[in-house]
Amino acid sequence: MCGIVGYVGPQAAAPIVLQGLRQLEYRGYDSAGLAVIDADGEIAVRREKGKLSGLSNLIDAEPVQGSIGVGHTRWATHGPPSRRNAHPHASPDGDLVVVQNGIVENFLDLRTRLQAQGYHFDSDTDTEVIVHLIHHYYGNGCHGDLAASVRRALRDLKGPSAVVVLSKNWPDRLIAARLGNAGGVVVGRGEGEMYIASDIPAILRHTREITFLESRQMAVITADGAAYFDLDGRPVAKEPLLIDWNPTAAEKGEYRHFMQKEIFEQGRSLTDTLRGRLNFSTASVELDTLNLPPDAVNKLEKVTIVACGTSYYSALLGKYYIERLARIPVEVDYASEYRYRQPLVTDKQLVVAITQSGETVDTLAALEEARQGGAGTLAIVNAIGSQAARVCDGYLYMQAGPEIGVASTKAFTASVTDLLLLGLYLGQARGTVDEATRKELVHALSTLPGLAGELLDEAFHGRRYQALAEELHGYHNFLYLGRALHYPIAREGALKLKEISYIHAEGYPAGEMKHGPIALIDEQMPTVAIAPRDSIYDKMISQIEQVKARGGLVLAVATAGDEYIQQKADYVLEIPATHELLLPILAVIPLQVFAYEMALRRGADVDQPRNLAKSVTVE
Ligand code: G6P
Repeated sequence: MCGIVGYVGPQAAAPIVLQGLRQLEYRGYDSAGLAVIDADGEIAVRREKGKLSGLSNLIDAEPVQGSIGVGHTRWATHGPPSRRNAHPHASPDGDLVVVQNGIVENFLDLRTRLQAQGYHFDSDTDTEVIVHLIHHYYGNGCHGDLAASVRRALRDLKGPSAVVVLSKNWPDRLIAARLGNAGGVVVGRGEGEMYIASDIPAILRHTREITFLESRQMAVITADGAAYFDLDGRPVAKEPLLIDWNPTAAEKGEYRHFMQKEIFEQGRSLTDTLRGRLNFSTASVELDTLNLPPDAVNKLEKVTIVACGTSYYSALLGKYYIERLARIPVEVDYASEYRYRQPLVTDKQLVVAITQSGETVDTLAALEEARQGGAGTLAIVNAIGSQAARVCDGYLYMQAGPEIGVASTKAFTASVTDLLLLGLYLGQARGTVDEATRKELVHALSTLPGLAGELLDEAFHGRRYQALAEELHGYHNFLYLGRALHYPIAREGALKLKEISYIHAEGYPAGEMKHGPIALIDEQMPTVAIAPRDSIYDKMISQIEQVKARGGLVLAVATAGDEYIQQKADYVLEIPATHELLLPILAVIPLQVFAYEMALRRGADVDQPRNLAKSVTVE
């Protein structure tokens, strides 16, 4: 939540910061602001409510010049979206400014203390206590040493925070510091210039040499490089990582929205997810970053998967895959619930976190709970080098490339594919999948990207989805039904619709419909039935009959050429036939396109749906 970008070097800072913020707007778009040190050595601040375009217009009208600067895009926690709550926040004398990502949990106490010391507060934000604290310590006890004042101020804060500080008294440097899981802070090196950002895509155009700041570390960044310290002021040696993402992967290109681009590149992203992981000659999968040799696998008694949002629905499929292929009991928990139920954790357990961003604070906290209980940990993660990948014993990258649209699409299909690979890997280590099944699955997986590509080609070039959305976008409620492997897809399909089109939608296990939701069925509540030809196809057909018998409208996701379902359902979206375990990966794609087309017709902002943010770094 919230995005930060900083620059120091020979170029004009504002355009670089603005361009970087554009790549981070998925993290929040309640307000935006930036500060640079201008030619007179003063800090010039521009802030605006709402999206980045507002700030951009303001800067066009009131330009700022300077070659060191910091910017912020906000997802509001303390105080409503407004110009006065927008970051950067300045000290009373205007000598220093701070941008923050995270939450100061004890901000009320700190504000009262600072008010008693004479500080006046201009905003409702918790961030303002940080700038006043730094200002206070700068003049009291830290002898005008900026880095020391930042360290001292951070000692007073409770809760996770990532901050970047700019001071007119130290015009050659930015100070970045991180406390807890407040979202990433990455430092990028250029030629005689340096960058800071909350996430890699923001600075990928300029550098691929990235250093990650850990909790309780700070970086003092000048144009020539960065020096790293812990929060006690001791130097820390850090090695940069070379990121091999293509910068254009984080751009929209010919597409109208990032979400559209990310949906339509799933043929390619699934190829990347599978690349180097299928061994056809041994009919096996190779996952060398898991850090789980066969003897460790054989000691496992339980797997727990923790995740939030879309990643949670992927986890539900993971349970299915791992139990079926590796015959290990799997529990799935919302990461935000996990640590509050005093979970039973043992050292014979593997806790798997699924997280696109690798920085969702609830997921990181669940991992910490598992680690403390002695469990092995594994992150299935998309963002390269992110916190989840770094703190776990092993990791498996989704390899989907940067995902910018707030509603997750290609990361979902990539993470489900990773879970299928994981199930196979555990199964082959435990000897619970025979060779014929392995062969079948390895072959089916190799054809998956092609099948997804065909399906998307048709969706992109045909008018089927547009016509359907034209007819259905006026409805206010939808029920999504699926069974077994397609129950998580029903949940994910419903989530996509509600996230971006604001239509109420519920995803339900089809067999449970008769225990409640059936009471809601009438001609005003269409049902989306996920019913490709699989082993429980007949059961789904009877659910469709039950909806039809009550006057409900049915939109079915079905296997191409299924004439029977064509007669039963009012509308059909087709997917190609494949191995049963891979069907959900294809079945979700029409639901993504459908939600996208529905949102367009309702005039919603697809890439930045209201109130949501992509990386949720607050509890
Ligand atoms: C937010 C996003 C969702 C995402 C969830 C979990 O709610 O809007 O799209 O699924 O966080 O994010 P993660 O990065 O942990 O997968």
